[in-house]
Amino acid sequence: MPLNIIVGAQWGDEGKGRVVDLLAREADIVARYSGGDNAGHTVTVGENTFKLHLLPSGIVHPHTIGLLGNGMVINPATLLEEIEQVRDAGVIVNPDRIKISHAAHLITPGHRALDGARERARGAAKIGTTGRGIGPAYTSKTNRSGMRVEAMLSSENFKQRLADHLDQVNYQLDVVYQEKPLDSRQIIQEFLVHAEQIRPYITETGEYASHALADGKLILAEGAQGTLLDLDHGTYPYVTSSTPTAPGALIGLGLGIGSAGRVIGVVKAFQTRVGEGPFPTELEGDLAARLRGTGENQWDEFGTTTGRPRRVGWLDVVLLRYALRVNGITEIALTKLDILSGFDELKVCTAYRAGSETYQTLPMGPGNLKGMEGVYEQLPGWQSDLTSIRQWEDLPGEARGYVETLESLLGVPVRIISVGPERSQVVQR
Ligand code: IMP
Repeated sequence: MPLNIIVGAQWGDEGKGRVVDLLAREADIVARYSGGDNAGHTVTVGENTFKLHLLPSGIVHPHTIGLLGNGMVINPATLLEEIEQVRDAGVIVNPDRIKISHAAHLITPGHRALDGARERARGAAKIGTTGRGIGPAYTSKTNRSGMRVEAMLSSENFKQRLADHLDQVNYQLDVVYQEKPLDSRQIIQEFLVHAEQIRPYITETGEYASHALADGKLILAEGAQGTLLDLDHGTYPYVTSSTPTAPGALIGLGLGIGSAGRVIGVVKAFQTRVGEGPFPTELEGDLAARLRGTGENQWDEFGTTTGRPRRVGWLDVVLLRYALRVNGITEIALTKLDILSGFDELKVCTAYRAGSETYQTLPMGPGNLKGMEGVYEQLPGWQSDLTSIRQWEDLPGEARGYVETLESLLGVPVRIISVGPERSQVVQR
C-alpha cells in the first residue's frame, strides 16, 4: 500500500484536520512530516474538541500509529503537554503508538526568543510568524548547528549541546538584538527532564515507515500549513521555513518517490491567510466579516495557534492551479462550503490582469503578486443551509455548480465536501 498525502492547497487552515479524520479510518499509520507547533489542527469527536499542534490528528482513531517525521521541528515542552492533554481525553499515547524521528530537530526556548527578537527587529517588514521558534529552529538545522531529537539519547552529550546552543542564543540576543538573555541553567534542567520522557519514543521512523509499506500498510501523511507557505514555493518571504508541499512528505518521512499514492489537496471554499504577505483576492468590510465569522465558534476564521483574525477573500483559482502543479494533487477535498450559504452571488478568481496582460497561471511564482488584479467569474449563490446535507444530489443546484465550476477550472475531481465542523458533516462523491 502507498503513502497517501494530504496537503493544504492555500495558506494553511484549509481544514486538513477534518479530512485527515475521515481518511485516517482506512490508514494504519498517520504521520506529520513538516513544521512544528505553528500548526493547529482542530478535530472534533463527539463531545471532545482536540487542538493538536504536533501529534498527527489521525491518532484520535485508536487503531492508528502516529509518526513525527524527520522533517519536523519539535518543541519537547509543547509535545509533552499535548500528550497529557490527549491522554486526559482518553486517547492512548505510549511508545508503541507514537514514534518520534531521531532526526527531527528540537525547538528550544532559545529559538522562540530569537523568533520574537527577529520579528521585533524587522518592524513594519515583519513576517507575522506564530512566534513558535520555527524559523530559527530550521535556521539551526540548515546551518548545521541544530540539535536533533537523537541528542536526547545521551544526557551528558545533550546537556553540553544545549549549553553551547544557549550560549550562542544569548550572545545574539544581547549583541544583535539588545534583548535580555535567557536563564540557561533553568532551561537545561527542564530539558533534561523532557529528554527522559521523550527518550522511549525516539525511533528511526523512516525505517519503520518503509517496513510498514512493504508489509502492505497504508500511511497517511498529514500536511501542516499550506502550499503558499512553503519555503520554496510560497509567497516568499512571507512563508514558513519548511516544505509543507506534498514532495516534503517524502523527504520529511524518509521515503522514496515511488512510495507516493493519492495526493489530496485540501481547498477551503474561499481564501484565508494569517500573517503578512500578498493576497490578491482579499476582501474587507461586510463581505469579509461574513466569511470570517465572529470568533464565537471554533470553526470561525481565527487562528488555532495564535487566535489572530484571519484575512479572507474569494477563492483564487490561479493560485490553486499552481498548487496542483507543485504538489501533484490528484483530487480535492473542499471544506467550509456551508459558509458560502446566504450570498446572492459568489466570485471566483480565474485569472490575473497586470497592465494589458492577462494570466491564467503565475508568470513569476506567488512571490511576485504585486500589481496583479483578479479577473473574476461570477456564480449564483444559494440561500439554504447546507449543514445537514449528506448527499451530493441534495445540495442546491448553485452549490453543485460552484463545485463543478471548480472541477472544470482545475481538471481534478472534488471527492470530499465538508459542510460543518462535526465529523459527520461531510458529503462524499
Ligand atoms: P512561522 O511558521 O511561525 O515562522 O510563520 C510564518 C508564516 O506562516 C506566518 O505568516 C504564519 O502566520 C504562517 N503560518 C505558520 N503556520 C501556520 C498554520 O498552521 N496555518 C496558517 N498559517 C501559518
